[in-house]
Amino acid sequence: MNQRRFEGKVALITGAGSGIGRATSLRLAQEGAQVYGLDANEAAMNETIELGEGAITGGVTDVTDRDACFAAVAECVDRLGALDVLGNVAGIVFMAHFTEMTPQQYERLMAVNVNGPVWMAQAAIPHLLARNGNIVNIASNAGLMGMAYNVAYSMSKGAVVQLTRSLAMEYIKSPLRVNAIAPAGVSTNLVKGLSFPDDVDFELVKPYVGFRGAATPQEIAGLFAYLASDDARNMTGAIVSSDGGVTAS
Ligand SMILES: NC(=O)c1ccc[n+]([C@@H]2O[C@H](COP(=O)([O-])OP(=O)(O)OC[C@H]3O[C@@H](n4cnc5c(N)ncnc54)[C@H](O)[C@@H]3O)[C@@H](O)[C@H]2O)c1
Repeated sequence: MNQRRFEGKVALITGAGSGIGRATSLRLAQEGAQVYGLDANEAAMNETIELGEGAITGGVTDVTDRDACFAAVAECVDRLGALDVLGNVAGIVFMAHFTEMTPQQYERLMAVNVNGPVWMAQAAIPHLLARNGNIVNIASNAGLMGMAYNVAYSMSKGAVVQLTRSLAMEYIKSPLRVNAIAPAGVSTNLVKGLSFPDDVDFELVKPYVGFRGAATPQEIAGLFAYLASDDARNMTGAIVSSDGGVTAS
């Protein structure tokens, strides 16, 4: 891989401490970007910064905190001089019977998966407009199909899908592009930590498990790099599935 599509560009990636966010930060850095990574987990973020060998900086931000999102974007632009790409990657998940889901679980998930991308986009758009920049949101196959035991997550990713399309339309007369990737299973800490309720009916789970196993975070990062690059100049408002065919049926 010797493309350098992000030479002279600055990318801000949330959830950069692990999984897809880390792989994306490293991929964009390899392609010449200066990356500003954010994560709620300081140790994980520091590891990504170390792996970036000088091309990745950043710090601790909880994307549920609107003021902190605005402060992080300001800090990124202050330190690196501009903002060309926003990657809304941070996200959380839990599985539960709908009636057993606690208000705390529900509110936290919505705050991270929905409010986070909204606050980050509000903070970033003025800077992105100044550079003909773009946003890539990480949605999910869960945003495109119904999922038993995963109602809140599925709702949150449906919101990310519509955030993507609606923002694309609001800015359709500007060069700003807004796209999303909808992966199914990706082998990251998110799925390693996942547990189903004890009495789950696996017949209901089968439709979203698929036939081809999980993607690697690097595969999703490669797609992210394409969408965020000028190669995808004609793409906006697109929800691009990378799911081994899970949503094809
Ligand atoms: N792994 C999958 O199977 C899969 C499938 C479809 C979509 N996704 C989505 O991809 C995105 C990345 O997931 P991943 O699999 O890389 O997960 P991951 O758990 O490996 O990484 C997520 C990162 O987000 C960070 N984070 C969580 N809450 C945060 C907050 N409030 N503020 C800032 N950072 C926070 C975590 O600390 C972690 O480093 C998520 O939005 C997830 O919903 C994942």
